[in-house]
Amino acid sequence: MNDFQAMLMRMESQCLLRTRRIIEGPQNPSLRVNNQSFLSFCSNDYLGLANHPNLIAAIITGMSEFGVGSSSSALICGHTKAHEDLEQTLAAFLEIPRVIYFSNGYMANLGVISALVGPGDTIFCDRLNHASLIDGARLSRAEFKVYAHSDVFKLEKLLQKCKSPSKLVVTDAVFSMDGDIAHLAELITICERYDAWLLVDDAHGFGVLGPHGKGSLHHFGLKSEQLLYMGTLGKAAGVAGAFVAANRHISDWLLQRARTYMYTTSNPALLATAASAALPLIYEEEWRRIRLRTLGKKLQKVLYGLPWPLIHSKTAIHPIIIGDNQTTQTLASMLKNQGIWVPAICPPTVPDGTARLRISLSALHTEDDVICLAKALMKIATVLKVER
Ligand SMILES: Cc1ncc(COP(=O)(O)O)c(C=O)c1O
Repeated sequence: MNDFQAMLMRMESQCLLRTRRIIEGPQNPSLRVNNQSFLSFCSNDYLGLANHPNLIAAIITGMSEFGVGSSSSALICGHTKAHEDLEQTLAAFLEIPRVIYFSNGYMANLGVISALVGPGDTIFCDRLNHASLIDGARLSRAEFKVYAHSDVFKLEKLLQKCKSPSKLVVTDAVFSMDGDIAHLAELITICERYDAWLLVDDAHGFGVLGPHGKGSLHHFGLKSEQLLYMGTLGKAAGVAGAFVAANRHISDWLLQRARTYMYTTSNPALLATAASAALPLIYEEEWRRIRLRTLGKKLQKVLYGLPWPLIHSKTAIHPIIIGDNQTTQTLASMLKNQGIWVPAICPPTVPDGTARLRISLSALHTEDDVICLAKALMKIATVLKVER
């Protein structure tokens, strides 16, 4: 039998034990924990919508119209007018024929991948893809091939050799722990050349990149019949849930075969009404994306002298690579002591030896917040006598 206690103790000794903190109040750059305020750089609420009055009002309207629970799977009686309106509004927003609203991004990836391919087929996966893409690939029982991060050349070699009837390439659009953007144009070209599907997971690009926040594909002006596009609504959109956009035939197929859509109670309608209320804010309020970009540039500038490498990023995610787990945890707790919360991200979320502080920005941060973080990190580097 597994000795869970021993395993937990081992994890603790390797600084790999995760803990939860109880947040007292709404999501904001300032978070309250244990009656203490922290300047937070933890959240994926990139546009600062999670506590927006329009979304709160939409939740109340949705609740008074549809009640609280959705009572069943979307394919029984859990697909309300609010869900349908969200799907149609999203399809128009993204300029694509059809969108399906899933409970969350994790389930969307699991459902889509296992509906598209199965035993005998092959999935090609970037080494730094999100866990949900990897788990979806495992669940499908298709053959699973991993290529080095963003190594499009290697991917092409793998596709060239592949004899499977169905091939699927899966990629984060914005890599969740690194903040860099996938080579989407090249990926599409290769997928078209080798007749492979391409599933683009835009959890961290939707709302943040592209004109009006339409996401990574619009950012590069890309379209393809080979594409499936997944975006989440719990990050930049500030609510919960996810969507998958694909052509009509694939969408119809997903409704029949995506088990994480079919066999789960649909999200409450009130979440769909809130997500619909987020879309005009994402579309119209360009200042939020401008602020993110300005803060990102400022952050890269003020952190330049740090002894640890900061990954160059054009998104809201700015990791500082520390290396070993213990130092990363120490830095995070030294920041905490100064009232600043930056999450320490350790393996297996990131590869061994690349533990990091993952700084994520929100449009509600100020330049002073960014300077405050930089000063705190400089101070820590001096105290620890870390050299460049
Ligand atoms: C790249 C990526 N895909 C999918 C997900 C899962 O989305 P959700 O939180 O909606 O389950 C996440 C994060 O949570 C993510 O970072």
